[in-house]
Amino acid sequence: MLRRPRRNRRSAAIRGMAQEVQLTPQHLVQPVFLVEGTGVREEIPSLPGSYRFSVDEALKEIGECRSLGLNNFILFPKIPAQHKDKRGTYGWNPDNFYLQAARRIKEQYPDICLISDVALDPYSVDGHDGIVHGGEILNDETLHVLQKMGVAQAEAGFDLLGPSDMMDGRVEALRVALDEAGHTGTGIMSYTAKYASAFYGPFRDALDSAPVDSEDIPKDKKTYQMNPANRREALIEGELDTLEGADFLMVKPALNYLDVILAMKQQFELPIAAYHVSGECAMLIAACRNGWLDYETAMPETLLSIHRAGADAIITYFARDFAERFGQ
Ligand code: PBG
Repeated sequence: MLRRPRRNRRSAAIRGMAQEVQLTPQHLVQPVFLVEGTGVREEIPSLPGSYRFSVDEALKEIGECRSLGLNNFILFPKIPAQHKDKRGTYGWNPDNFYLQAARRIKEQYPDICLISDVALDPYSVDGHDGIVHGGEILNDETLHVLQKMGVAQAEAGFDLLGPSDMMDGRVEALRVALDEAGHTGTGIMSYTAKYASAFYGPFRDALDSAPVDSEDIPKDKKTYQMNPANRREALIEGELDTLEGADFLMVKPALNYLDVILAMKQQFELPIAAYHVSGECAMLIAACRNGWLDYETAMPETLLSIHRAGADAIITYFARDFAERFGQ
């Protein structure tokens, strides 16, 4: 036998030399759920190990993550029902607790990368990412709201805006609004290929942001989020986001869409991000808690596979755990 691939697996030293990709905490983004108030740290039942924090607790959490080598954080707000309305106006109120928290976090940790969430759903009484009217999600009307939200976020100090809403034209709308307001340095990590997925459940629990059950409100997000059957369509979205000025192209979810991550990586020059979403993390946690899988090996293998498929940056609820175990 002339060729024996096992020779390159004989020792840890050889395996290390032959290793094709390496995952380090610099690639990871830690999501942080924020609530109003002080002293709050409540675990999310459907996503064990993840918490909703008030800003004082979030500052502690981020400080600990930083000492583990994590530099990237994406913030999501759980908005009290009394602040919600049809147009998500609380989202661009400069005194809202989300923007206040962002200011405090950037003040204390100026060198981290702070990523926002641009979409109506946390602020909307209807629980949709855009304005709902006559049973439809209005595209162009929603863009104006996203622009106000995005500029307010840039003003609060976010480094990257994260439009997660899937309205057509939103990257250009945000880019133009940011530039007009003088925020030429604020970037856009676009949720380019975001699928209408069943794996967002724990996230919607965490934020209380699911579409509400009512006759004139669509029950799902299929008229704006992508059909899970489609890969080529992701390339249309990627081309548009590139032309519209995105700085990162994201695929979401990650594990069920590794082929889409690879296709985007091959097609585009921009860095690719992947969102390893709440349901994907929850499944693994559940299996580990049942004793069916080993977290210490299954968790890093999962993240590594997303990186190998072509994601440069990975948003994952396991970022802190990974950095704790495998950061330097
Ligand atoms: C909504 C948004 C969702 C997630 C991030 N932003 C849910 C949705 O589209 O309904 C899901 C993230 C996760 O599941 O971890 N703008």
